[in-house]
Amino acid sequence: MASENPDRPAAATDGARINFDEPIDRRGTECLKYDAYAKRGHAADDLPMWVADMDERIPASAIEALQRRVAHGVFGYSDPDESYYEAVLAWVERHQGWRPERSWLVKTPGVVFALAQAVRAFTEPGDAVLIQRPVYYPFTNVIRDNGREVVCAPLAYDPGAGDERFRGGRYAVDLQAFERVVEQTSPRLFILCNPHNPVGRAWTPEELRGMGEVCLRHGVIVVSDEIHADFARPGFAHTSFASLGDEFARACVVCTSASKTFNIAGLQISNIFVPDPALRARFERACAQTGYDEVNALGFVATRACYEHGDDWLAQLKEHLERNLALFADTLAREAPELRLVRPESTYLLWVDCSALGLDDEGLRAFVERDARLWLDMGTMFGPEGAGFIRVNIACPRQTVEETCRRLVAATRAWRERQG
Ligand SMILES: Cc1ncc(COP(=O)(O)O)c(C=O)c1O
Repeated sequence: MASENPDRPAAATDGARINFDEPIDRRGTECLKYDAYAKRGHAADDLPMWVADMDERIPASAIEALQRRVAHGVFGYSDPDESYYEAVLAWVERHQGWRPERSWLVKTPGVVFALAQAVRAFTEPGDAVLIQRPVYYPFTNVIRDNGREVVCAPLAYDPGAGDERFRGGRYAVDLQAFERVVEQTSPRLFILCNPHNPVGRAWTPEELRGMGEVCLRHGVIVVSDEIHADFARPGFAHTSFASLGDEFARACVVCTSASKTFNIAGLQISNIFVPDPALRARFERACAQTGYDEVNALGFVATRACYEHGDDWLAQLKEHLERNLALFADTLAREAPELRLVRPESTYLLWVDCSALGLDDEGLRAFVERDARLWLDMGTMFGPEGAGFIRVNIACPRQTVEETCRRLVAATRAWRERQG
């Protein structure tokens, strides 16, 4: 259907083969990944493979939509029309396997902002909030920074569950331990990472139901951060917590965004679904209390264009990520088997078990930064349960993954020589 909205391309402009291996120089664009070395205490020749964005250009149709909007030259207060909502709902239905309702959607300037508002909306200072470490570190920060108490039901790690290629172990939820922590600490809120960053799990409906039933039994509201939902690898699928059934949906908040999927984190917009009207009113009130009102105009223009026209781009991106993953996994298995990759199920962030090196925190940091000349997120950033692990972002051209592998292999050889 032709659009009357000038910010909406009427037809897909993508479809051609996209070269995700094209090197794009991001230096000088004020990006965190390449322009924050000095501020973050890193040497300029450390290869940055840390922050969760991609060294990839967004879909051409989204660039075109943004260019049209920018060329208009006026950037007053803005609010998207109905086409935005339809694009978001249709995307979630096509790619994430469930159809939320229009009235459930609350727009926020980011998922972490939404997590913080959920903490403020549904808990009181001093209340316990549950997380499963090792987990994306802002979960801990938004709880602590709001004067609530972090309680943890750690994920269970079976180090021997790997295979030839994915030599790292497997993470699971120990449901009995999970319920014990809930009983002992009485959290009001559980922040679930679904799929899980950094361990890469795409939780199954059974696992989600298990956690959900414990939460329902004990009156715990679930905030399900589903920002990595679109990256489910072949053989895996995303299940939204809200899709488990009405009673689960009514007790949860689901956080989504185009920002990871389409690399638009700098445009700061996310879509939060709160099915229950009473919970939604509390959540919206917490957002209003921050003084936050309209979303970023360029953020919604880009989100809508990506969601309307980005299916093929995403399919091609995922093929590219599979190739990068195969390169990384095979190189490590062959040349640095001490570094054991945990099989990812739905993310481009790889979680590598380095415990076979026998290094303490400081030693592993020296291995990464001094020996391998890499800038990574160290496992302990995700909680003490992450000790001995590193996280590597492979959403970049193949050459960058090759260079990362070269550096890790060289550092591992040097480590071997030091062992004598
Ligand atoms: C699980 C998870 N949630 C949220 C975010 C960030 O979301 P936002 O930039 O919308 O605050 C990330 C980014 O890496 C993430 O991995």
